[in-house]
Amino acid sequence: MDMVRVTEAAALASSKWIGKGDEKAADQAAVTAMRSVLNKLNIDAEVVIGEGERDEAPMLFIGEKVGTKEGPAVDIALDPLEGTSITAQGGRNALAVIAAAKKGHFLNAPDVYMDKIAVGISDAKGKIGLHKSIQENIKTYSELSGKAIEDVLVCVLNRPRHEQLIKDIREIGSRISLIEDGDVAGVMVTADPESDIDLYVGSGGAPEGVLAAAALQCTGGYMEGRLTFRNEDEIGRANKLGITDLDKIYSLDELAHGEIFFAATGVTDGALLKGVKLFGERGSTHSIVMRASTGTVRFIEANHNFSRKDWVL
Ligand code: FBP
Repeated sequence: MDMVRVTEAAALASSKWIGKGDEKAADQAAVTAMRSVLNKLNIDAEVVIGEGERDEAPMLFIGEKVGTKEGPAVDIALDPLEGTSITAQGGRNALAVIAAAKKGHFLNAPDVYMDKIAVGISDAKGKIGLHKSIQENIKTYSELSGKAIEDVLVCVLNRPRHEQLIKDIREIGSRISLIEDGDVAGVMVTADPESDIDLYVGSGGAPEGVLAAAALQCTGGYMEGRLTFRNEDEIGRANKLGITDLDKIYSLDELAHGEIFFAATGVTDGALLKGVKLFGERGSTHSIVMRASTGTVRFIEANHNFSRKDWVL
């Protein structure tokens, strides 16, 4: 449960920057707050998915040690502000996200793009995946779920690179939910029983892919990812992390496995979580906290009183 304090702090801090057009300031506020709370936790943790490599990120960089070092050794995957542009523009679906697992249980993914497919069905391995075309995946989903192809709803990031993907989905007759940003939430909603979204497909950040996989390991669902590289520099970054098979399709377990703890707090309102609300000395947050081994999914609404002397970010 301590993990949710970390995401609450990041969400509250970045919420001050909603709609102000300053992505950097919003991200910096989230990073500073998340790091400060993380460093109070009794864990001996290393950031494996973070704000970037040491030379490009001053805080929460890959390899940074966090926590008091007095607790268990864990690896941390985090994104203090998943959706910096959304926050800067006051759009939907921005989240503060963190996941923890035993050492070596997250893919050490470089900050490159990843092709992703995700579905809320847990035993979809071998049936739905990146080895098939999107139209084949939709047909299989329709057979497995009993939902008609024309009713299947696919979530896709609205990007020019997805033009052909969108055409293919429309050609087979399925529906599309285009999102402007925030594909961690896009993947997570496939496993939300209250959401109509069936599949998430398309290319987004690889670090976000690992975080989404950590979430799906808790909620149930299946996903695959394949790193994509635009130049030699990106290939070099993958090689530095020990990745040599550049075409590998990573299964859900290869992205994240084992006993995972996951927490996310809404910064702006979204499909999964409500955003931060600020009322002078008080503020409210809406979070999800999950654990893979038990599959318990908790939603936590918290009211914060900033005027209390012990309230700290
Ligand atoms: P940020 O947190 O860096 O703003 O990422 C938002 C996001 O939409 C991710 O959810 C997604 O994986 C990635 O950007 C997609 O990248 P791009 O905007 O370059 O298409």
